[in-house]
Amino acid sequence: MNPLPAALLPDTAEVDGTGRLRIGGCDVIELAATHGTPLFVYDEAHLRNRCRETVAAFGDGVAYATKAFLCAAMARLAAEEGMHLDVATGGELHVALAAGVPPQRLVLHGNNKSLAELGAALDAGVGRIVVDSFDEMDRIDRLVAAGRPAPEVLIRVTPGVEAHTHEYLQTGVADSKFGFGLAAGAAEAAVRRAADSGTMHLMGLHAHIGSQVFTVDSFRFAIEVLAPFVVRHGLPELSIGGGLGVAYVTGESAPTIIEWADVVRTACRDAGIAARVTAEPGRAIVAAAAVTLYTVGTIKELPTRTYVAVDGGMSDNPRPVLYGSGYEAFLPRAVEAARPRRVRIVGKHCESGDVIVANAAVPDDIAVGDVLATPVTGAYGHSMGSNYNMVLRPAVVFVADGNARLVVRRETLGDLTARDIG
Ligand code: LLP
Repeated sequence: MNPLPAALLPDTAEVDGTGRLRIGGCDVIELAATHGTPLFVYDEAHLRNRCRETVAAFGDGVAYATKAFLCAAMARLAAEEGMHLDVATGGELHVALAAGVPPQRLVLHGNNKSLAELGAALDAGVGRIVVDSFDEMDRIDRLVAAGRPAPEVLIRVTPGVEAHTHEYLQTGVADSKFGFGLAAGAAEAAVRRAADSGTMHLMGLHAHIGSQVFTVDSFRFAIEVLAPFVVRHGLPELSIGGGLGVAYVTGESAPTIIEWADVVRTACRDAGIAARVTAEPGRAIVAAAAVTLYTVGTIKELPTRTYVAVDGGMSDNPRPVLYGSGYEAFLPRAVEAARPRRVRIVGKHCESGDVIVANAAVPDDIAVGDVLATPVTGAYGHSMGSNYNMVLRPAVVFVADGNARLVVRRETLGDLTARDIG
């Protein structure tokens, strides 16, 4: 009855003789005992497999979108696997550089890059800047006039395509804060200005249509819309951005990175695009690599429903609250157990909206003290987390070959007051 689909678990997940979950050769309940909960457990082999597939499918220059999940260990892993890194702020740039990623492998994004962020990127010598506005071009002009080296840039174009995804996750539509609109002529003006400029080397174009996109047709369509513009300008590079969706719950399925790359490259070829085509996926690399472990602390049986409260919540996974995103839940002590019971899994924050799984299927014998896991929580959980209610941010462990390495330590009470100076 409704057991957890194995496809939602990381690549190396296995069930031991007693029904317990192992990832990367590590018993996850032991990980919870050693490192505490909530805990993000990432399967290192899964992360490496997705990076390798991406590099194999797109070739050199393909980037990992660090906004999905970033810490020094992740930055290093992606670079080791041959990926470039998309950084969208000075903060992400700093973490990637601090992790030792060669600056030529960094692609700086952002719709409102400050003079300081652009200056830091030019000083570091980042590989590409994806230019998003005329104001940004003014700032690059100023920095280069003051002695910084002229960067290699892509122009971000907004193709005016509606991706089938949550409204907040759409970025390629004409009414967008991102990029230069194709239809309105802004993209044309931006390319002219960059091409004629002595302060930028124009290498190509960039378009990102949205995130959690399941239908590869959306990418095909965007490429068809962009093609005349791309072909006319004949620039050497085209990045199609990120956005490939992943399955979060029973019954969903998403194209693989390889299938996605195939559609993108075929569409580009069919449209006569000769540019080197690249991409920058985030979610598809990291989402299914991780599970979050919680401890069940309180169970309330109401006439309406049962509330199962865990020791994290919207501070480690704000996606259900922000987007109404669905997740599965299971007990790592009985991975393959039937899940006949329906409960609402909630966090420990002081608001009713703090829901992790609104209508979760769980085993009948779920009890206080159980370690409970939510799969496919590797993307946009840790990175969008907070310490709302001064709940301590979780630790992150990478598991591989029977070893668990703590890569981000749990926040401490001392951290909560570390910035208070008054
Ligand atoms: N490139 C650009 C320019 C982007 O804006 C994004 C995501 C990506 C690449 C990576 O997209 P991905 O492959 O991860 O879909 N917080 C939301 C997702 C926001 C995505 C923003 N941009 C969520 O939790 O679903």
